[in-house]
Amino acid sequence: MYGDIKIAPSILSASFMRMGEDIAMIEQKGADIIHVDVMDGHFVPNLSIGVPFVKDLNKIAKLPVDVHLMISNPLEELPWFINAGAWSITVHYEAFEEPESGIPQAIQMLHDAGIRACVSLKPDTPVEVLRPFVKDLEMVLMMSVYPGFSGQSYIEGTEDRIAELVGMCDELGCEVDIQVDGGISEKTVERVAAAGADIFVMGSACFTAADPQVAMARVRELGAAAGAQAAEGR
Ligand code: DX5
Ligand code: ZN
Repeated sequence: MYGDIKIAPSILSASFMRMGEDIAMIEQKGADIIHVDVMDGHFVPNLSIGVPFVKDLNKIAKLPVDVHLMISNPLEELPWFINAGAWSITVHYEAFEEPESGIPQAIQMLHDAGIRACVSLKPDTPVEVLRPFVKDLEMVLMMSVYPGFSGQSYIEGTEDRIAELVGMCDELGCEVDIQVDGGISEKTVERVAAAGADIFVMGSACFTAADPQVAMARVRELGAAAGAQAAEGR
């Protein structure tokens, strides 16, 4: 929410055969956070990596590890991921059978372990569902594509959903980091930053760039300028 801009490359777009080198590369080239996409082939059609990967990543990562869980049964699986370690863990609102009771439980489990709690919404889930929980979260992850794959196009109108979340937080008198994930590049970052997002996941726009350092710096620069300008007018 109009905070310091942070760049979070998604290693789903890295080479799985050269993962260690790709992680060292983004750490040297200006990333702030390492975004890890965990997919179970059930909550989303794709299958990616799991607990052993996250555990080993935490051993080598110099930057904070941000785990985005796209999995069913988050309450059952969460202890495993908490044990693997993370700076932040994101669960999907839509993954809970009973979100009203399940999400507070997940937040409590994460906070008890000293891990930042984040809830994510798919593009068609109303922002209003966050109202009961948002004050207890460190971050909201607003999906700007349907979760499951990197390389998709940004869904227009996500910026309005971010603005709605900012309005809700203003009304409730709380602050939350707003991460946006899917199709973020120098072409789309300004509109989401102007709306109030401050943590930008970059998958393909980072790893397929001729120079990832330049790509990350450009998104940071454009995002910071658009965010600062919008914050002044508030
Ligand atoms: C999609 C994942 C994203 C994805 C982003 O389900 O959550 O993190 O890897 O990739 P790009 O930036 O290419 O859309
Ligand atoms: Zn993600």
